[in-house]
Amino acid sequence: MKQRYFASTFFLLTSMKKKCFTEEKDKNASNVLKDDVSGKTVLSVSKTVSRKWDEENIDVYENEKKWLQKLKDTDIIARPINFDDENRIITTEYAGESVNKDNLPEDWEEQRDRILKTLADYDCRHNDIKPNELVIQDGKIRLVDFGWAYNRKKSNPDNWPERLGSEFKCGDRFDDECSFNKSIKHILKKQEKKEE
Ligand SMILES: Nc1ncnc2c1ncn2[C@@H]1O[C@H](COP(=O)(O)OP(=O)(O)OP(=O)(O)O)[C@@H](O)[C@H]1O
Ligand SMILES: [Mg+2]
Repeated sequence: MKQRYFASTFFLLTSMKKKCFTEEKDKNASNVLKDDVSGKTVLSVSKTVSRKWDEENIDVYENEKKWLQKLKDTDIIARPINFDDENRIITTEYAGESVNKDNLPEDWEEQRDRILKTLADYDCRHNDIKPNELVIQDGKIRLVDFGWAYNRKKSNPDNWPERLGSEFKCGDRFDDECSFNKSIKHILKKQEKKEE
């Protein structure tokens, strides 16, 4: 799906220069390029959700919006900035690059457990955890793409795509923990192959 990274070189350069001389206000937020009396500039990602996978019982845009709104005050997702209902565009704060072997933090298992615990607290099953949906910034892993999330205590509707979860699905089960672990295994293996 199309995304646009809204950051101009100008903003990047001014922010990098600024970082050399001043303390960052929020050390955990390198996506905040500038925050002062004249305004706040944040790196963001905009995702346009097509209708291709919508059915009578699923509107993928509305579903992602619903879960992002529920989870908006947690620190396990890319924080939502704007929902453009007419054009089905979801804008979230930039939350870093996909997890890879080089940036995988030592405490990834702890972070995984916290992410899974938070999902459980909100009765949410992501359903589609794959390597690309694990992003990392400043050593913090976040989960993106909640288009197919569902209530954790319920089974997914029968007519949802069979390919959901792809190779990271564990047998017939939708199990976020298992998919998370499979994704990390895959990330580590992929890098090993590259090095051979
Ligand atoms: N807020 C964000 N910060 C950083 N990267 C992001 C963010 N949102 C999305 N991405 C990256 O963009 C990719 C595509 O976004 P997303 O998964 O939401 O789209 P999608 O169309 O549902 O993708 P797919 O169908 O392939 O799963 C993600 O896998 C992730 O790597
Ligand atoms: Mg995705």
